[in-house]
Amino acid sequence: MENVLPPANPEANLRDYSKACQSFDWKEVEQEFSWHLTGKVNIAYEAIDRHAEDPTRCHRYCLIYEDENRRERITYHQMRDLSNKFANVLKKLGVEKGDRVFIFLPRCPEYYIAMAGCAKVGAILSPLFEDLMEMAVRERLRDSGAKVLVTTPKMAARVPFTELPDLRNIILVGSGNIVLRPGEVSWEEEIARASYDFEIEWMDLEDPLYIIYTSGSTGKPKGVLHVHRDMVGYLITARWVLDLRDDDRLWTTSEPGWITGTVYGVFAPWLCGVDNFVRGGRFGLEGWCRSIESHRITVWYSSPTVFMRMMEQEKEIAEQCDLSSLRHILSVGGPLPPEVVFWARRFFKTPIHDTWWMTETGMIMIANYPGMPIKPGSIGKPFPGIEAAIVDDHGKEVPPLTLGDLAIKKGWPAMMRGIWRDEKRYQEYFSHEPWYISGDLAYMDDDGYFYFQGREDYQIKVDGAMISTTEVEEALRGYPAVADAGVVGQPDPIRGTVIMAFIALKPGFSPSGELQEEIREFMRRYFSRRLVPKEIEFRPEIPRGEDGAVVRRVLKAWALGLPD
Ligand code: WT7
Repeated sequence: MENVLPPANPEANLRDYSKACQSFDWKEVEQEFSWHLTGKVNIAYEAIDRHAEDPTRCHRYCLIYEDENRRERITYHQMRDLSNKFANVLKKLGVEKGDRVFIFLPRCPEYYIAMAGCAKVGAILSPLFEDLMEMAVRERLRDSGAKVLVTTPKMAARVPFTELPDLRNIILVGSGNIVLRPGEVSWEEEIARASYDFEIEWMDLEDPLYIIYTSGSTGKPKGVLHVHRDMVGYLITARWVLDLRDDDRLWTTSEPGWITGTVYGVFAPWLCGVDNFVRGGRFGLEGWCRSIESHRITVWYSSPTVFMRMMEQEKEIAEQCDLSSLRHILSVGGPLPPEVVFWARRFFKTPIHDTWWMTETGMIMIANYPGMPIKPGSIGKPFPGIEAAIVDDHGKEVPPLTLGDLAIKKGWPAMMRGIWRDEKRYQEYFSHEPWYISGDLAYMDDDGYFYFQGREDYQIKVDGAMISTTEVEEALRGYPAVADAGVVGQPDPIRGTVIMAFIALKPGFSPSGELQEEIREFMRRYFSRRLVPKEIEFRPEIPRGEDGAVVRRVLKAWALGLPD
């Protein structure tokens, strides 16, 4: 198998990566925004109103929405009016610059209108992921001191209104005939009454725009804070990584409660003024294909799980759908296996371009560009203007092909500006100035390509050697009696950290001391000694999340004897 693929599109927006890196200057990107001349800053103006005022762009669709029951198209022109209306609703409820407004909705047009309206009043918006349960919702609203929440009557059941002293109003989308409780208002009624005219709140580039909560590896969720200046990074990465051109139609499949959805599903395409497609509701593989086909999607930003499922069912798809509109495909969120990249090149006539970034980085940091050769298995090279490195525990750069912490030199425009009300946790990312320490393990090859090797928290250091917990788990699953296994590092007063394994047995086997010893013996015989767990405990089941990954937090809690 070849291990370097030629550039997928030599005509890409970014044609010469090395040259761009040499001459890159963020100041030049700033000149693309109207505030460069007027001094009036608000991302909503750049993303919506500017296009609404441009006769060549005002009729493009900032939202093409579709689910089982609803189809809607909103032009940039219409979005200006709708977001003005929503901004007026917020004003009427007393929302001021800097107040926190949460959006807790399934994917629907109102989600996007609300996001734009929040930015227009200068509120700090916080998009929530649809599946959050009551405890998680409470935690986030409380931590941020949210003043207003937009939700549906059904999801409002997960919002403990009376336990949230700062929360003044809930705006209900689809309130229909229900009786509103004190503090609740109807989206439909308020929007109908509100004016189309609104004077945008002009901001400072460093003023907050949104907070996204990430679960973090331990403890309470972190409110990652982003500011209006982020737009500089959104625009240029959309152009050079997503390769957006004037006539493109983008589908970023992540929901707006995740950063990929917020940035590349909303603000980035809007800043470029392209058509932006969103599919709501639940749908399967056929739904993915139908949407691409019927809306003639040209640029598709999705995740490895979706691509892997497509690869498995390639034949059915090829018979039923025409996916030839796709000219550029990107992936984010988890490791993209090389086979999938090769498969895509054959199947879609374009490989998949992996991108790496995090909620905290705010924009794509490392990527495979359509104008640059791809090494499948690699996350690519740093975006021009971004300096990435692999560092050791002391923040010192390590030589190529050495595993270490993936770090980015501090100070790019979309870098998080804080962890909400938690300066200490923010500073933890910068323990080795000038680096932002990502917590991801990676290495770089001799040509400057980076390779993701798992989260730091999946790795444990035993006797000074790095061990991948997944490697141990896989080995354990090879033993006939083992149905599933989960591994964590257990603090040990003498040896620092020892390997602790939780094991679920197959039916017909019961936990015993002998079995523990047999498993250890099996590990010793067939695998390296360093992979042998010191402690083994049996459990009926190993906790796994929706994505199939072991929920290490629960294992950690078991190992430490804490509540899970
Ligand atoms: C973590 C960040 C920013 C979008 C997605 C999720 C993992 C991200 C890749 C990739 C392997 C990746 C990292 C990172 N990740 N991109 N291309 N290959 N892993 O944002 O929820 O903040 O998660 O996602 O572990 O730290 P997030």
